[in-house]
Amino acid sequence: MASPVQNPSVNSDPNSVYSFSDCDFLIIARLIHENTGIYLDHTKRFLVQTRLSRRLKELGLDSFREYRLLLQSGMMDELEYLANAITTNTTSFFRHDSQFMFLERYFLEMQLKKEFPNIRIWSAGCSSGEEPYTIAWVAYSTLEAKNFDKVSILATDLDSEILKVAKKGVYPEECVSKLPPEKVRQAFYRGHGANSGFVKIKPEISSIVTFKKLNLIENWSVERPFDLIFCRNVCIYFHKDTQRALMEKLADMQDEGGYLFLGQSESLFATCNLYKTIENAIYRKIY
Ligand SMILES: C[S@@+](CC[C@H](N)C(=O)[O-])C[C@H]1O[C@@H](n2cnc3c(N)ncnc32)[C@H](O)[C@@H]1O
Repeated sequence: MASPVQNPSVNSDPNSVYSFSDCDFLIIARLIHENTGIYLDHTKRFLVQTRLSRRLKELGLDSFREYRLLLQSGMMDELEYLANAITTNTTSFFRHDSQFMFLERYFLEMQLKKEFPNIRIWSAGCSSGEEPYTIAWVAYSTLEAKNFDKVSILATDLDSEILKVAKKGVYPEECVSKLPPEKVRQAFYRGHGANSGFVKIKPEISSIVTFKKLNLIENWSVERPFDLIFCRNVCIYFHKDTQRALMEKLADMQDEGGYLFLGQSESLFATCNLYKTIENAIYRKIY
């Protein structure tokens, strides 16, 4: 029986953890995999134990066994909490900045066309919004106003809590402190009084971004095609088979010539032959 190492309901230390058996880990890891695609091997065991011990304490439970029973009872809200607790949301403005230089060139090239096309972009796994807002920011600073209005960005994530942060568009000043100040002034209001130390994305930039909760491993109801898809640093947490299935589904959402952006430590090699490499972690659909 799984007795608490230190039962946080009797021990007020917020960092104390509940004992976590192999069986607890295997069952919870399987539920996470089935619901999010995220694959957790044994090296993630302590991470799961610490993140979820806080939750057990909040729920007033005595053991991971009780928590497993709660999850297996089909309480969808708790499965959502579980997914939110386990996802890794690391992101930043202009992350992998060479990809945004490519994006700038892409917009400029489109602007040379006789008629500027409608451009649909998907930020899949958008986390707290830095990625879709950076895309919008590049469009805003590169395109004429009438063309900027023809760009639309769908930003989706599985994590309902992180989407609330994304929709607000408010960030600690440190998030933009490494960017040139005049660039930051173009895109953000600086907070004063109670909001000092924070910046807020300007509505003229955020207006082209729509946020939506979407699980990439479930069936989507999303209109195709997308000219550009950013799915960066999402698949690294998936098994090869899940990665392959997702890449094929993303390819279905694009016409020939569409661009796919992955994280810089990710590669399509061995998962999908529907794209050719353009430059580091940027791919173009060929069929
Ligand atoms: C590390 S962040 C990457 C954020 C951004 N794309 C970037 O590269 O800066 C990964 C995001 O993928 C989301 N994610 C993980 N599994 C997902 C799934 N099955 N469906 C949708 N989003 C998922 C997580 O919630 C998290 O916000």
